[in-house]
Amino acid sequence: MAQKGAHVIMQLGAILRVFEPGSPQTRAIFDLGLVSAVILALIFAVVAGIIVYALMRFRWREGESDPHQIAGNKTVELVWTAIPCAIVLALFTLTAHTMSLSDPAPAPEPDLIVIGHQWWWEARYTNTGAVVANEIHIPVGRALSIRLESTDVLHEFWVPELARKITAVPGHPNHIWIEADKPGTYLGVCSEFCGTEHAWMRFLIIAEPPEQFDAWEQAQLQPSARPVEDSAAKGLAFFQQMSCVSCHAINGTAANARVGPDLTHFASRRQLGAGIAENTPENLRRWLADPHRVKPGVNMPNFNFTDEQLTDLVAYLESLK
Ligand code: CUA
Repeated sequence: MAQKGAHVIMQLGAILRVFEPGSPQTRAIFDLGLVSAVILALIFAVVAGIIVYALMRFRWREGESDPHQIAGNKTVELVWTAIPCAIVLALFTLTAHTMSLSDPAPAPEPDLIVIGHQWWWEARYTNTGAVVANEIHIPVGRALSIRLESTDVLHEFWVPELARKITAVPGHPNHIWIEADKPGTYLGVCSEFCGTEHAWMRFLIIAEPPEQFDAWEQAQLQPSARPVEDSAAKGLAFFQQMSCVSCHAINGTAANARVGPDLTHFASRRQLGAGIAENTPENLRRWLADPHRVKPGVNMPNFNFTDEQLTDLVAYLESLK
């Protein structure tokens, strides 16, 4: 219940962020919205004003005869055809201009390939080969071209502050640009219903100064940390014996499957389960103990780990900075 409440608040928060554009693309969309709202408000005020004026001024009064009847007036008809045509043409031109700003033609080679899965996002940096899940870092002030794919059903990639929405269609890549003016963490959501956990298919766009971004990307390319503690070492051994390796990859170990999120730098992520919980040892333990309690419908099975196994797995995964 508390989780549901938190979700509704977050959803509302995500929607409200369209009022805080943080990139040239979303600013163009926001400005078009403002200009359209002003034009529509003016039309409303003029039409409503004329109606109210006519009702008052030409009201029937006691003893008055019918007014003079007019049938057709070319000038008036031309004027009230021309004005709406001009308004529609103006809105069309503004919209076409905004579309060219908010959705430029795709780059020949994308900077990022983002793939929607039920229910998480994978991102691959094409230049370096770094692969991440649910937390996508970008350099501030540079537009990155994204090729959007899906492995299963329709999803929709939406970061309200940074870019327009775009649908991830299986077998049909779509393109979008993403950019942030200022460093910060921007919430992204899936905005196309895609199954039971559609609401928990969140992601973060973390915009950083270019040097910080480069350092992050280099760190993501490093193989996973070797466990130092005994418990973490047992966790790694256990991870490799179990069927964890048939879904997950951990660079530098025997695990290289691509079904679930890459866990090479798992501990550097802020959240678990595509936004459902903070990435803390306690939450990770709850997740591993019964993923379906935390995120009903998730593809990860319940392995009925023992307490000791849980402790070792948590120690290992949380050491993967
Ligand atoms: Cu993916 Cu909704």
